[in-house]
Amino acid sequence: MILVTAATGHLGKGVIDFLLKVVPAHQIAALVRDPAKAEELTAKGIAIRKGDYFDATSLVKAFEGIDTLLLISSGSLEDRVGQHVNAINAAKEAGVKHLIYTSALKTSYQTKFIPGVDHIKTEEYLKSSGIPYTIFRNTFYAEVVPMLVGNAL
Ligand SMILES: NC(=O)c1ccc[n+]([C@@H]2O[C@H](COP(=O)([O-])OP(=O)(O)OC[C@H]3O[C@@H](n4cnc5c(N)ncnc54)[C@H](OP(=O)(O)O)[C@@H]3O)[C@@H](O)[C@H]2O)c1
Repeated sequence: MILVTAATGHLGKGVIDFLLKVVPAHQIAALVRDPAKAEELTAKGIAIRKGDYFDATSLVKAFEGIDTLLLISSGSLEDRVGQHVNAINAAKEAGVKHLIYTSALKTSYQTKFIPGVDHIKTEEYLKSSGIPYTIFRNTFYAEVVPMLVGNAL
């Protein structure tokens, strides 16, 4: 069973739509904070697991029986590393066999791309967790460009 976190977001939805082309729906689960926002996913046959990165207990329950977990980095900047650590700890406790994390290119403590610091801290924690992992070195997401360019567009 594959679980995708942040499944009500742009990336989560996109990943699930891609997965549906290659694996049956009954092999996919989605982590959502509010199941009322997940009707579209339920209609596609995806199992809904309720959980919040801030609530470690909810994550352990949500990750039960999951083999592969795609941890999509949190959009909330409040203690972002702590949120990811909660998810990694929960994955370990639940016996997840492979954790994939959406990081960024060239993460380092010196990076001028501020989220990159959270990413490297998360990567280091993931590497020390003992869970087999894959780190995605995602580039800049195109939908952020209008946000940065703003009225100049
Ligand atoms: N590389 C880049 O250029 C770039 C740009 C933008 C974002 N990002 C990263 O990529 C991630 C995904 O992007 P996106 O466009 O899909 O973001 P998005 O559409 O804003 O979706 C964010 C998702 O995160 C969920 N979420 C937020 N806080 C959570 C929490 N405490 N516990 C569990 N789930 C939580 C949201 O759930 P709700 O629906 O309940 O709010 C939503 O599903 C972002 O969160 C951010 O870390 C990277």
